[in-house]
Amino acid sequence: MSVYRFPQVKPSEITPQELWQGRRQWIKAAGAAALTGVAAPWSGLAGAASPATLSATRNPAYMVMDTPTPEKDVISYNNFYEFGTDKGDPFLYAKALKTEPWTVSVEGEVAEPRKFGIDELLKLAPLEERIYRMRCVEAWSMVIPWVGYPLSALLSRVQPTSKAKFVEFQTAMQPDAMPGLRSNVIDWPYTEGLRIDEAMHPLTLLTLGLYGKTLPNQNGAPVRLVVPWKYGLKSAKSIVRIRLVEKQPITSWERIAPREYGFYGNVNPEVDHPRWSQGSERRIGQGGVFAPRIKTLMFNGYANEVASLYQGMDLRKLY
Ligand code: MTE
Repeated sequence: MSVYRFPQVKPSEITPQELWQGRRQWIKAAGAAALTGVAAPWSGLAGAASPATLSATRNPAYMVMDTPTPEKDVISYNNFYEFGTDKGDPFLYAKALKTEPWTVSVEGEVAEPRKFGIDELLKLAPLEERIYRMRCVEAWSMVIPWVGYPLSALLSRVQPTSKAKFVEFQTAMQPDAMPGLRSNVIDWPYTEGLRIDEAMHPLTLLTLGLYGKTLPNQNGAPVRLVVPWKYGLKSAKSIVRIRLVEKQPITSWERIAPREYGFYGNVNPEVDHPRWSQGSERRIGQGGVFAPRIKTLMFNGYANEVASLYQGMDLRKLY
């Protein structure tokens, strides 16, 4: 993969306008809630930690050439159904997510199951900055400078047994903070899975930050997965449990719509979603809805790295 020279951007140049718009809306809504005496669903806002600087070393092997998506778009156009289904909901409401204390339990088919605190995860392996292409199943995409390290560094700590064939990821359920849990849009908790070789692949990133800071809540604080050759839905946010298992887990999306979402979720322009084409995508932050669409690449452009994982598989059936 070629080296991308990342532009040096001053924090003052990337102050997200939506932050202020969002805050204004929130102030209005909070004011209305105070007047009516109804508790705002995001009443935990005051306690929310804002992202802190996170230093990391750029890994030149994992920097795509594409222009990174402006930070303001990365943090305000999100999917995080626990906070609502509109793209702007996570930005407005995820502030109520309680991210301290936080532990991730790594368990199942491992010799040494145990829990990891976030401070420990931050120090478990050298933090790297990697610029990955991200392709959502809804046919939009972004280019994001993530901070993290390969998930394999964490998994090898607990020593997977020979029965560990798959890895299941479970994410946080905080009913007081997450209005989305009251809807059945998904079978909660949001659950995802990978085959063990996918989980151990060097591209699979245990992610603790973006744009040089800890993860904003709406992007999956304090720890999430990023699997760049798969649709974004595989990149589970706000992970609390990682289970190594013998049988293929059922993901939340497979459970709710098995005809539309399979276990693999590999980006594949040749296999359309039953309701729309996967052949092209809209790059968020580049010219809006009138900008020309970009051709979607097999495995999101990561075919050289990952195609061998799927040799001999019928990717039309195993989508
Ligand atoms: N993780 C949880 N817990 N809940 C979600 O709704 N949405 C997924 C994924 N991880 C989701 C999740 C989907 S559909 C996408 S496209 C990505 O998160 C979006 O990540 P981003 O908002 O950081 O771009």
